[in-house]
Amino acid sequence: MTEVAPGGSAEKVSPEEAGLRFEVDGEIATVTLARPEKRNAQTFATWSALAQIGEHLPQQVRIVVVRGEGPSFSAGIDLRMFTPEGVPGQGSFASAATLEGKAFEERIAKAQEGFLWLRRPDIVSIAAVQGHAVGAGFQLALACDLRILADDAKLCMKEPALGLVPDLTGTKPLVDLVGLSRAVEICLTARVVGAEEAARIGLAELVVAPGELTRAVADLSAALLATNRDAAAATKRLLQGASVRTLEEQCAAERLEQAQRIRSLFG
Ligand code: CAA
Repeated sequence: MTEVAPGGSAEKVSPEEAGLRFEVDGEIATVTLARPEKRNAQTFATWSALAQIGEHLPQQVRIVVVRGEGPSFSAGIDLRMFTPEGVPGQGSFASAATLEGKAFEERIAKAQEGFLWLRRPDIVSIAAVQGHAVGAGFQLALACDLRILADDAKLCMKEPALGLVPDLTGTKPLVDLVGLSRAVEICLTARVVGAEEAARIGLAELVVAPGELTRAVADLSAALLATNRDAAAATKRLLQGASVRTLEEQCAAERLEQAQRIRSLFG
């Protein structure tokens, strides 16, 4: 099923080929990064498979849980990308550096598609994070609406230490959650943020013992599923737009959504 695009990026990859597992149980879908022996390192194939999961998400799904198997949520981008040989079938940064014009940016845009859909209003995405979430791993957790951390979680935006920038959609949620100054400090020092601090500064909704992570995610999923599906989607749309609208615009958006809700419930 793998098709390798010019420039080396895997375009169509099954979850299994990309080291992912995708399971659906009623209204809850679970995406598992399943390369624990490599600490769930991510490749272009991972991001392509994630994008396809988003594209083909069964309509009944309301909750998407993103988790990692083994001791780490994800050690970030596969470090083979930094070697001349790269990742088989996907190239390396050295080969990507030879791409001309907008070709490399287009390749990054494809990778970002794997992360963007997790914000869709019709779903709530939850990252269940234990151990390390480094670079692309931290950004994947940031792409989710909510984060539940095990108390051994270690978040690190490693990219600047490697001469790169975080480019997998993580910079905006980071700034939105912790503010510009704290985001600058976290990224430009590439330091580790532990679970307790993460909860204190708004990067996690909940911190639990590692053995409680699965249960905590299930409890939160159940609570989220207890609300009306369409009202939840409309409310998420409103909340997502709130920071970029004026109060007046937000009030207008509330009126519009509520009129639709009331018409559909009582009309
Ligand atoms: N890519 C490829 N393989 C990786 C990997 C990665 N990012 N991280 C770990 N592995 C492999 C190791 O090479 C090792 O493989 P072998 O058993 O074959 O030697 C295996 O996974 C286990 O690794 P460790 O023994 O290091 O595991 P640990 O639990 O002691 O440490 C860790 C975990 C702290 C995450 C450590 O593995 C680590 O620091 N990894 C690298 C993290 C990193 O720098 N990632 C890049 C971030 S930047 C980014 O993601 C860029 C971007 O978005 C553009």
